[in-house]
Amino acid sequence: MTEHHSTDVDHGHADGLPEHKLRRTDVFPRAEKRAVRQVAAMFGLSAIAGIGTIAAFFAFPADRLITVPALGQMSAQNVVVGGLMGVSILLIGLGAIHWARKLMPDHELVQERHDLDSTYADRKAAIDEFWSGAEASGFINRKIIRRSLLGAMALFPLPIIVLFKDLGPMPGTSLRHTIWKAGEQIVTDPQERPIRPEDIPVGGLVNAMPVSLRKLQDKQGNSNEGVKSVIVLVRMRPDEIVAQQGKNWDYQGIVAYSKVCTHLGCPISLYEHRTHHLLCPCHQSTFDLADAGKVVFGPAARRMPQLPITVDADGYLVAAADFAEPVGPSFWELG
Ligand code: FES
Repeated sequence: MTEHHSTDVDHGHADGLPEHKLRRTDVFPRAEKRAVRQVAAMFGLSAIAGIGTIAAFFAFPADRLITVPALGQMSAQNVVVGGLMGVSILLIGLGAIHWARKLMPDHELVQERHDLDSTYADRKAAIDEFWSGAEASGFINRKIIRRSLLGAMALFPLPIIVLFKDLGPMPGTSLRHTIWKAGEQIVTDPQERPIRPEDIPVGGLVNAMPVSLRKLQDKQGNSNEGVKSVIVLVRMRPDEIVAQQGKNWDYQGIVAYSKVCTHLGCPISLYEHRTHHLLCPCHQSTFDLADAGKVVFGPAARRMPQLPITVDADGYLVAAADFAEPVGPSFWELG
């Protein structure tokens, strides 16, 4: 086995490489010191830009807009946070390049390679080379560069951690409730027309939603409430109802169920009125609306939540309460 070794190349000879020229930093100690200061300044500024990123995230509200030339209106927070983070990364890169070009050894080495197996002597030589390289690069001796680089690298992940805040608030108990409540009027989706029981023929299906949903969306923008609270109303003969999730939750054979599949959340309104089956088009889960929303086929693990309904003083359909169980995919039950 042949020992690996590295040797300085005598440039300008048979290897065809140009003659090695010394850099100013190799010759003049003042130039070397200036380069050290420049590298440290870039790493230091990178750290400051990292801190600035965090400060900007909190200083600029997400909904404040500014006009960026050629790009138009953008969130001020995105522009400043993104800009500062980019500057922080750029300065680490520029500092590292400047360090390598001006201060690290620049003479070429040739390493003879033979067998891939390393002997003890090879490994020892590699370790020695590593340390001599580290020493020559200045990482060990040039404390100011080492510390400023470590500082910049240590601060770099912090803005990323802070940005996780933008993933939104923890859901808390909001996944367990919807805006349905006793007396909440049921209206057609999307026309928002109140519904009388006689509007729904036996075998018919109506897509519906709570009357207060639109007002809530106007106030809060697009909220999850719209996704959670949509329902389907179907009518069957009262004697066809096998079971419900609560006592007398239908109104004269009209039953209301969530429209959100309990498998992965697809909206469903494919109804087969002879079997009373509601079919999800995504993965074919099938729910029996005459039998408390029971799963009769497919991957859904949980029945379709039922909404108790009644009529108000004017004879329009209203909810009698919220759903008794969470709507949508049942992943939170794993907790
Ligand atoms: S989302 Fe409905 S079956 Fe998968």
